[in-house]
Amino acid sequence: MDKPVVTNRALFADALAGLRADPKRMNPKWFYDHAGSALFERITELPEYYPTRTELSILRREVDTLSTCIPEGAALVELGSGASTKTRVLLDAIRGLRAYVPIDVSGDFLRDVASDLDRAYPGLRVAPLVGDFLGDLDLPTEIRSLPKIAFFPGSTIGNLEPAEALNLLRRVRAWPEVSAFILGLDLVKEPGILKRAYDDSAGVTAAFNHNLLLRLNREAGGTFDVDTFGHEARWNAEFERIEMHLVSKKTQEVSLGGFSIQFSKGESIHTENSHKYNQASIARAAAEAGWAVDVFLTDERRLFGVAILRPF
Ligand code: AVJ
Repeated sequence: MDKPVVTNRALFADALAGLRADPKRMNPKWFYDHAGSALFERITELPEYYPTRTELSILRREVDTLSTCIPEGAALVELGSGASTKTRVLLDAIRGLRAYVPIDVSGDFLRDVASDLDRAYPGLRVAPLVGDFLGDLDLPTEIRSLPKIAFFPGSTIGNLEPAEALNLLRRVRAWPEVSAFILGLDLVKEPGILKRAYDDSAGVTAAFNHNLLLRLNREAGGTFDVDTFGHEARWNAEFERIEMHLVSKKTQEVSLGGFSIQFSKGESIHTENSHKYNQASIARAAAEAGWAVDVFLTDERRLFGVAILRPF
């Protein structure tokens, strides 16, 4: 037999621990290799996946509200900035913004985006920060004394467990001169709408989920036959979250970097949680971290929320 090739030790170690746990699980951060990021971009354009376009329409509609929330000479700090598409709505509308600090783990991508923004917004200081916003962040010294606005769109906070989300709210609250936190939240709603958003008719979300197994095969010495795992999106009413699973269609043995993993028929790998909020539940978490909900913006169907939090 060929020797299994592990090229990504961190992925391998994390996946092995998750696949040996009961129930089996994976961390959703591993979705985003090149193929996974491209699949996620396609998800944001699906008719069933309302969050991205709904959030963008709220931000566009409420630019004046947002801009009056932001003091003269402030720094906008974005957590997990990616392509900074939504940020451009803010950058276009806010007068007197001094600096923009996009934070992302993908350094190459971040530098490209930063130099584009540098060119597009001449008066603005763009100071990218490569790093994980869940870890310890050293904000650039040049923005230390400026009022700071944290921006965390996309409902990415939904991927965090409630305790981790609280932790993040507390850490941002501790930034010197922090003046507001603009937070995008997918809202609790009729489960059918949620399930369709995570199990679309074109099968793009299924491909996004399956890509995790392909990635384990490519980078962690996996031998997954992806066709033997089905994509499932489940609404967990107790924890108010959508869960994504990969469910084994048969009893089988898979190897990961030479280590054997057993699956029974119907056994799942829990690959993602996407927590949903409402105004009350975010207000409760925010209050525990020293924030009050100043403004809560939503669309007419109440699909998505943008909360503006203020320190108290
Ligand atoms: C990027 C975490 C906001 O939870 O909706 C989309 C990821 N997963 N479809 C989400 C995702 C399946 C997305 N977030």
